[in-house]
Amino acid sequence: MDKANAPLFDKLVSYYQRNSISFHVPGHKMGEGFSPLGRKVYQEILKIDMTEIPGLDDLHQPEGVILEAEQRAAKLFGADHTFFLVNGSTTGNLAMILATCQPGDKIIVQRNVHKSVIHGLMLARAVPIYINPKMIPQLGIAGSINKESLEQTLRTHPDAKGVFIMNPNYYGIGIDLKEIIDLVHSYKIPILVDEAHGAHFGLHPSFPSSSLEMGADIVVQSTHKTLFAMTMGSMLHVRSKYIDVDRLKLYLSMIQTSSPSYPIMASLDLTCHWIEKEGKGLWDNIIQLLDDFYQKVDQLKIMRVKHRLDRRYFLDPLKIIIHSQNKKVSGVDIQKYLEQKNIYLELADLYNALSIVTPGTSYQDLKRLSDGLWEIEQTLINSIDDIQDIENTEVGSVDHFIFLNNKQSKISLEKILYSKTRLVSLQESIGKIAAEMVIPYPPGIPVLQLGEEITKETIEYLIELKDKGIRFQGIHDHYLQRIKVLDQ
Ligand SMILES: Cc1ncc(COP(=O)(O)O)c(C=O)c1O
Repeated sequence: MDKANAPLFDKLVSYYQRNSISFHVPGHKMGEGFSPLGRKVYQEILKIDMTEIPGLDDLHQPEGVILEAEQRAAKLFGADHTFFLVNGSTTGNLAMILATCQPGDKIIVQRNVHKSVIHGLMLARAVPIYINPKMIPQLGIAGSINKESLEQTLRTHPDAKGVFIMNPNYYGIGIDLKEIIDLVHSYKIPILVDEAHGAHFGLHPSFPSSSLEMGADIVVQSTHKTLFAMTMGSMLHVRSKYIDVDRLKLYLSMIQTSSPSYPIMASLDLTCHWIEKEGKGLWDNIIQLLDDFYQKVDQLKIMRVKHRLDRRYFLDPLKIIIHSQNKKVSGVDIQKYLEQKNIYLELADLYNALSIVTPGTSYQDLKRLSDGLWEIEQTLINSIDDIQDIENTEVGSVDHFIFLNNKQSKISLEKILYSKTRLVSLQESIGKIAAEMVIPYPPGIPVLQLGEEITKETIEYLIELKDKGIRFQGIHDHYLQRIKVLDQ
């Protein structure tokens, strides 16, 4: 493969440059028939917004430039097969589960997975056996599962057809998976990894190893999150004797559109091209800029900017976790304050605000962030008396995380879809079975899971999130005054 080329992108450009005439879809005809209001902004990209005409291959039956681009990606990321996804890692999670489980099959699943995993379980009619992650008390967020609890669950459910985990989590926190992968393989079943937030892993010496490198069987990565693809551009990588690739392809053809976006696919191709061309040098500058940033914010008192955790966990260098040192200042407060300065973060929770950087982040961007944090400090410092010492303080009482106690679904997921349900007040819902997920978004991890018995602690936690202005998905009542429960 010529490193100077991005086969799919090059082909698209050559079509446009040849002065081709379009008597096919899309109807905007390379931009000529596009809304005049948006034409100027969309113009360049519409030139390559094409369809499956000869030479441009077909995502669902690739044999030309798309196959070439996917094969290059597979080589770059260490897979036997790589599939381009045009609907994000959401599709990858659905396809991984559908390809692994038949109706009624058990699968061991990390409890704090993204909602798309739960949707995949519902579509596959699989039976999840949840494993709770360990909490990270200094940050008040859920971490990873550990080997001991997985070992115990595998012993109890030796008939499980696979293990599904997320590594890293949204905050870029994860663990070395080697031991866990070896354990799962000793049961001769595959390990499926949602690595949506780790598409760049393994590509620079300061990044953690990728889960494929560590031996995972099938892995989805959101190339659009920490690498450089357009939004929705993701990749699904396979290297396994346990995964039936034909079955996987069949499901991908069912759940991906029959009109995949060429600009998105080409952006995946260009991402691989750029990484191959520049190698680790792509990130050298941002890693250096981050060193400077961390020095600038090192003396903050109200917030602590985390770039290291205890040795059980790694922390992705491209994630900046701004952790509040004071109960009166939530992560959401930090986020809102920065928004007034036109600085937009990825997410915030009760204790933390999270920003993501990439090689597209400049010195100036990081300076605005550090200046913004110092402004918060100066504004609040006189009104706050109890600044905590982060190294010794565990935030959030354990009660906050009761929702992570070992609760399995009381009823199969798909049965809930067809059951009679009703909306009840939060207080009334306690003790009933949840017929909807309650998902703070971001990060999109359900706090209340379908089929779980609703506890007082979960309701208290949800009320606290709501009061702090956290947004929810999955719920019927937009204001979360009522919850949908099984009508039993
Ligand atoms: C852990 C995790 N997995 C999967 C997804 C879905 O990824 P995508 O947005 O690429 O569909 C997300 C989205 O935020 C996520 O956080």
